[in-house]
Amino acid sequence: MSVTTTPLSISPMTGVLGAEITGVDLSSDLDDGTIAAIRQALCDHHVLVFRSQDLSPERQLAFGRRFGELDTHPFVHGNAEHPEILDVVTEPDDRINFGGGWHTDVTFLPEPDMGSILYAVDVPPSGGDTLFANQHAAYDALSDTMRSMLDGLVAVHTASHQYGEGGTSTLSKAMKTRNPELSATRVEHPVIRTHPESGRKGLYVNRAFTTGIKGLTSEESRAMLTFLFRHGVKEAFTCRLVWEPGTLAMWDNRSVQHYALHDYAGHRRVMRRITVKGDRPV
Ligand code: SIN
Repeated sequence: MSVTTTPLSISPMTGVLGAEITGVDLSSDLDDGTIAAIRQALCDHHVLVFRSQDLSPERQLAFGRRFGELDTHPFVHGNAEHPEILDVVTEPDDRINFGGGWHTDVTFLPEPDMGSILYAVDVPPSGGDTLFANQHAAYDALSDTMRSMLDGLVAVHTASHQYGEGGTSTLSKAMKTRNPELSATRVEHPVIRTHPESGRKGLYVNRAFTTGIKGLTSEESRAMLTFLFRHGVKEAFTCRLVWEPGTLAMWDNRSVQHYALHDYAGHRRVMRRITVKGDRPV
């Protein structure tokens, strides 16, 4: 067993998910024990928040690589110098912001990214918070009958509504998208996903990318997804992160959905996102 040389102090943000972690400087070379403790905390709390971090792009990349290989976004241009970095920018006159709806990152990929690591560079004077929803809690709250109906169902995911020609995410002024012709590719994932590290089951559908459930008529599928989209993000399963410059958040895409609120028109918001590659959901 590895030894933790940096003791983490973990303060849960709500009763259901999220924890603020203190006692660790993410710009330093962390030992394996500390990384293992952060990974365990991520499994336990799903969203980790580290305040007052002074992180260059290079140090953020180095931290992310401790959790696995980093991904590049297939439909959004990455940073020119570091393609694995997505500069998540909202200009004062943007009418939408990146991630402005409930979603789980890149579920349109056969192997969606396991985690995302977002660093706040510049935030509006107020607003621009990010909401998270715990999909294990959402699953646990379903009746036994509903759970057994959903177990074994397979959903279809595609990026076309977001990244196809005229898609919602192509309307941002600040963030340039690409490859709209590839966005229609459909992938299949289980409706209920088992977390590969904790073994817990969770809902694995999201409004941005899930378009249907196999084996149901389109009417049945729409009704079921409408219910699941609302159920998965009920207030009781959520936490809300208020950013400050220097805040870093890391979330587990295998167990949460998130939503970047756009309630700060007239102000700029600049974040730096990296994502860690994941495995095929089962
Ligand atoms: C995202 O969906 O990754 C963006 C989250 C945010 O900007 O708060």
